[in-house]
Amino acid sequence: MKFKTTSATNPATAKVDTLLVGVFEGEVNDLTNATDSARSVILATANAAQRQAVAEGFKGAVGETLVHFSDNRLTAKNVVFYGLGARDKTSIFTFRKAVTAALKRAKALKAEVVGFTALDAKSVAGEGTDTAKVAETVASYAAMIDYVMNHQKTAKGGHKKETRFRKLHLIVDAASLDATERGLEAGFAVGRAVNFARDLANEPANELTPHAMTKYARGVAAASNGTISCTVHDRKALKKMGANLLLAVSQGSEEPPYLMDLVYTPAGYKGDASSEAAQLTIVGKSVTFDSGGIDIKVNGGSRHMKRDMSGGGVAMAAIQVIAALGLNIKVRAVMAATENMVDGKSYKPGDVLTSMNGLTVEIDNTDAEGRLTLADAIEYAKRKGDTNIVDLATLTGAVKGVTGDVGACAFGNHDDFTNTVVAAAMSQDEKLLNVPMWEEFRASNNTEMADLKNSGGQPGSTTAAFFLRAFAGEEINWVHLDIAGVAFRDRELGPDPRGATGFGVRTLVELARRLAK
Ligand code: BES
Ligand code: MN
Ligand code: ZN
Repeated sequence: MKFKTTSATNPATAKVDTLLVGVFEGEVNDLTNATDSARSVILATANAAQRQAVAEGFKGAVGETLVHFSDNRLTAKNVVFYGLGARDKTSIFTFRKAVTAALKRAKALKAEVVGFTALDAKSVAGEGTDTAKVAETVASYAAMIDYVMNHQKTAKGGHKKETRFRKLHLIVDAASLDATERGLEAGFAVGRAVNFARDLANEPANELTPHAMTKYARGVAAASNGTISCTVHDRKALKKMGANLLLAVSQGSEEPPYLMDLVYTPAGYKGDASSEAAQLTIVGKSVTFDSGGIDIKVNGGSRHMKRDMSGGGVAMAAIQVIAALGLNIKVRAVMAATENMVDGKSYKPGDVLTSMNGLTVEIDNTDAEGRLTLADAIEYAKRKGDTNIVDLATLTGAVKGVTGDVGACAFGNHDDFTNTVVAAAMSQDEKLLNVPMWEEFRASNNTEMADLKNSGGQPGSTTAAFFLRAFAGEEINWVHLDIAGVAFRDRELGPDPRGATGFGVRTLVELARRLAK
């Protein structure tokens, strides 16, 4: 998708397929008074659009849209009026909802060139918003809504290629041109990264093996203009470093495991010795298929487990876009990739393993494999000296009972850092609930045979978090995001399609922006 920004263009004559015009709630009765750009559109339609809006009861509420076919009086084939809500109640949150509805309507009209007008930041998105943010929102949402799943339907099978947005044309006032272009560029980068994470999670497990993941990781580094390095540790290296929990999970698979380490170093970074330098580590669960292992998943439980590497895909996409935005923060992304399969060589319930950090673990359930891979990945990051770790993992089905398919649960060991992560997420409409880690549950992972067992019973998501916390320790900042409920959905929601959502990318970008110095 390309973009174009112009000032001085009359929206009525802009060469676009569909023109999107925002309208404030309660100002529909005289659209010619509403906004300058609405006025020129209305006048060009000889008030037909105005009469249509009134007749159809279009109020301008957030989420509402009205299509007007312009009958050759406008250059655009059609206009989508979309509600911005009441003028004194607008915010970036109402604006995102409004833009989502508008862009979805344009998509349904098969628009390829989409025009946006009437984007005065303070009025459409409230105080505290600026032109660049509004443009970034428009671009990132356009990219996300333009997403087409990486399916493998063919023309032979009767598939017709989807219509895609080709160009976004923003008509703004002259003073806003530069900030608009900056915002659009950043927004496209973020939206594309979300789509990259979605593609990774949607890709079938027969293709997206741990080894295939390493190719994507190398690709991210190769396309980073030298700002991201990629190190891939194979089985031999993993044995040497003692990543026995990850190795145990991989035992039953024909596919070898890999631990990927991507490091973004911003230009002019002072180096690890500098206490000034901001740092963030993203650990993403990267189980490319989770059959459950010997404790096999039944009743269709493994049907969507190709997406059990969603966290790793988000980690990879996030570091890619944080680098593309040139944020001044050192970032590491760690993906410990493996399958969890059933075989004579599989690890078994009752096995006792020594983790990379030295704690011993008794396997209580081979389907609680994610926390094993993450424990070694967290220890890997700690050995590198990292002190701010966020892990993202499709870890427990139980989390759906708390945050459903709308948001994720956050568990952390330091409230300041956890609150920073939660605030960053909420500001992006990625909902996070900070779940307390009550001490009473810490002992749930105790067992007679070893330091820990890998399944601590109810409440499943909290005891899983306590397992990870045993490896993160109390010294460094660590937050675990259980994204099992939101990483993929069986319905469309907001700017997300069915299937993989890429949940977490926007949170991580915002977090990096807030931590960057
Ligand atoms: N990958 C699953 C969790 C999951 C379930 C993600 C549904 C997305 C949708 C995880 O490895 C798992 O199997 N967890 C078990 C843990 C249990 C055995 C302690 C679970 O949640 O049932
Ligand atoms: Mn599992
Ligand atoms: Zn899993």
